[in-house]
Amino acid sequence: MDVTWLGHSAVKLQGSKTIYIDPFLTGNPAACCGPEAITGADLVIVTHDHGDHLGDAFPICKKTGATIVTIHEIAVMAEAEGIPTEGMNIGGTVESKGVLIHMVQALHSAGKGDPAGVVIELDGKTIYHAGDTGLTYDMKLVKEFFAPDLSFIPIGDRYTMGINSAAKAVEFCGTKKVIPVHYNTFPIITVDPEAFKAKVGDTAEVIILKPGESYSF
Ligand code: NI
Ligand code: MN
Repeated sequence: MDVTWLGHSAVKLQGSKTIYIDPFLTGNPAACCGPEAITGADLVIVTHDHGDHLGDAFPICKKTGATIVTIHEIAVMAEAEGIPTEGMNIGGTVESKGVLIHMVQALHSAGKGDPAGVVIELDGKTIYHAGDTGLTYDMKLVKEFFAPDLSFIPIGDRYTMGINSAAKAVEFCGTKKVIPVHYNTFPIITVDPEAFKAKVGDTAEVIILKPGESYSF
């Protein structure tokens, strides 16, 4: 499986299926590419209704025919625009196109619907995208139920965890590998990912990517 950080919280998972999560590209100063670079997708997953996560999700679904998997209230908006949808809510699991998506707790706010994280099972690998969240003991349930192979964890502070709580989140969720996201997009969420890596220490392998870079595992 290849994972690509597109910048901010936007990631691409490329296995037997092509999945985009939180594809905020238009207006994202850290984005590696614009939405025109996306030519095919099976699923688009949106963690919550904030512009820096919903982003280009609807146009990408319309262009590619991808199904959007997201919290009920966003799914209702997408359905009204004729987009194939799998609405769900926290605690639930959906299977779409052979991919399992579990929706988990996130401690944050959102426009329509609640904020969430997602755990995705694709090609025998388990991937946790925490969305935007503060540190929460609920992450221990992610460890107990899913023990992720790889996680995307926000570290940029102010709107999400900073490096200290993000390092604790790595311990709580029991992930083997972690890619920090949601930092250095804007000046107000500037942090040093190397300081995060140092905090995590031996708890997990920290993979620091530049927007546009991929990691295979
Ligand atoms: Ni947010
Ligand atoms: Mn955000």
